[in-house]
Amino acid sequence: MKLWMLRLGFLPLVAADFGNWSLVLLEEAVQTRGAACLDGSPAGYWIEHGWGSGAKRWIIHFQGGGWCISYEDCLARSKTSLGSSLNFTAEKSKTLEYSDGGVHGYLSNQPEVNPDFYNWNKVFALYCDGSSRNSEVEGPVVVGQKEVLYFRGHRILMATMESLMETMGRSESDARSNWRVYEDMQ
Ligand SMILES: *[C@@H]1O[C@H](CO)[C@@H](O)[C@H](O)[C@H]1NC(C)=O
Ligand SMILES: *[C@@H]1O[C@H](CO)[C@@H](O)[C@H](O)[C@H]1NC(C)=O
Repeated sequence: MKLWMLRLGFLPLVAADFGNWSLVLLEEAVQTRGAACLDGSPAGYWIEHGWGSGAKRWIIHFQGGGWCISYEDCLARSKTSLGSSLNFTAEKSKTLEYSDGGVHGYLSNQPEVNPDFYNWNKVFALYCDGSSRNSEVEGPVVVGQKEVLYFRGHRILMATMESLMETMGRSESDARSNWRVYEDMQ
């Protein structure tokens, strides 16, 4: 009992290491597709590349976070990481440790924790449009005197998948052609 309490006391000192996870910011997609977070910044995702038998397999987690429900509400959200990529890098550890439970379960790279997917390509798609990747408003929306908001969730979804498909490689991906069919139906 004593030992157990001692171990518990030391737990916070063990910093999580997310060294294999890197951020992809979809900067080009802001120009080419108008895909942007609520505040107009580029959307993005964290990725840990797969290896061995998982090198060509993919698991994609779409971060949640509910909706904003009014311009004022969305404006407030645009000043946080659920509406802007400004702090994505700075908040790496926080996001990967805690958001949606962090990259611990089916996004863990430990075979004991995640025997099915540990060595797959793992994606944590960040959520910054406030509308579950559904919104599609052409023009920026002016709120109040000078604040500008973008409702481009659907474009973010498309840009994210496009970027992932590119990384997967065109020739080997059935997923790519299936996604194409879906996109063409829109
Ligand atoms: C990074 O990935 C390698 C496998 O390529 C793994 O052995 C290692 O534990 C990972 N490091 C971290 C910090 O997750
Ligand atoms: C970014 O982080 C700074 C410092 O914590 C904070 O003041 C600012 O509101 C954050 N901005 C966004 C868009 O998340």
